[in-house]
Amino acid sequence: MANPVHAVLLLIVVVLLPLLFSLLLWDPIAVGRSAVKIKKSAELPLRFRYDGAFKILQVADMHYGNGAMTRCRDVPSAETAGCSDLNTTQFLWKLIHLEKPDLIAFTGDNIFGTSSTDAAESLFQAFGPVVQYGKPWAAVLGNHDQESTMDRFELMSLISLMDYSISQVNPFPASEKQQRIDGFGNYHIRVHGAFGSALANTSVLNLYFLDSGDRAVVNGFKTYGWIKESQLTWMESTSQKIQGSFQAPALAFFHIAVPEVRQLWYSKIVGFFQEAVACSTVNSGVLKTLVSMGDVKAAFIGHDHLNDFCGKLDGIWFCYGGGFGYHAYGRANWPRRARVIFIELNKGIKEWLGVESIKTWKRIDDTKLSKIDELVLWKNGKE
Ligand SMILES: *[C@@H]1O[C@H](CO)[C@@H](O)[C@H](O)[C@H]1NC(C)=O
Ligand SMILES: *[C@@H]1O[C@H](CO)[C@@H](O)[C@H](O)[C@H]1NC(C)=O
Repeated sequence: MANPVHAVLLLIVVVLLPLLFSLLLWDPIAVGRSAVKIKKSAELPLRFRYDGAFKILQVADMHYGNGAMTRCRDVPSAETAGCSDLNTTQFLWKLIHLEKPDLIAFTGDNIFGTSSTDAAESLFQAFGPVVQYGKPWAAVLGNHDQESTMDRFELMSLISLMDYSISQVNPFPASEKQQRIDGFGNYHIRVHGAFGSALANTSVLNLYFLDSGDRAVVNGFKTYGWIKESQLTWMESTSQKIQGSFQAPALAFFHIAVPEVRQLWYSKIVGFFQEAVACSTVNSGVLKTLVSMGDVKAAFIGHDHLNDFCGKLDGIWFCYGGGFGYHAYGRANWPRRARVIFIELNKGIKEWLGVESIKTWKRIDDTKLSKIDELVLWKNGKE
């Protein structure tokens, strides 16, 4: 190449232009790492399906540890070998395939701190199936989640940032004066009416998630946590605001029962009442608040793995999920289980209307994933 002009042009085309181009495309965030992972978000608001139904799978007390390394508790001795946290994962997968829920609600003790060497790793393993499933999921904490390497704020923060999670740490304060809400993981989720219906932009079902705490010492005695006044005030005012425009039924989800659940020992219940209700000695008035709000028809709880019953207190159902996790205490020959909540809309002449009924049943981890204890919790106009 004798001509210097040609040489300069060639230099520009072959070296400088590509360099300039790559500089323009240079993404400072991606440098030094393979790629930036941004949370895969679930589509919000949640809404009823075209067939007028919405299904929630409640998973209580997975007690996840370190996966394959973490042994099962309380399974028949012949099945102890080869049983680990992976059986919990397998059970979750089987239920997802069978029930195809629209939302999965985890009611605490998702991980079992004392068996987990890395809380983040345990969370990723425990919630692995729902992250892969790609449908929305929500979680609250129990009393065991924070026992390893993360505190309750860190756990809820990470849980809220995981793929398809619609969990939140706490609502943003409406003003500077607003009281801080106790705990981590208090939030409200709207479920809108079906697409194409007049209620497509209206929340026809409200879900309240609450942090019932971990442990506390009251008057020198050790006890469990409880839902605090600030949380109840927030829930009450949220309920008032939403009911101002449309009267929709609501459901609540938290980990530890309220003291009044003990009274259900003397009532007609559906399911097993096999162990004492391990709740706080403090009665902060949760039941009274739920009754006065008027929209909550049922509360879904966990914590006592051998209880899986539903019973009604002052017009509000309290339903246990029943122990889910294989590393959680349970009872050999009493299969691990989970609860399904099935909500259907009222079919109007031309379109779907508001909620018509709320039903529940359980699935047990036997060979057929048997469906048991089906129950109607609420029917519109028949309270
Ligand atoms: C745990 O999972 C393994 C592998 O699928 C299975 O063979 C075993 O029966 C399961 N154990 C229990 C107690 O379900
Ligand atoms: C709901 O909102 C969408 C988007 O703003 C709008 O197109 C639609 O007409 C609304 N539907 C109803 C029933 O209000």
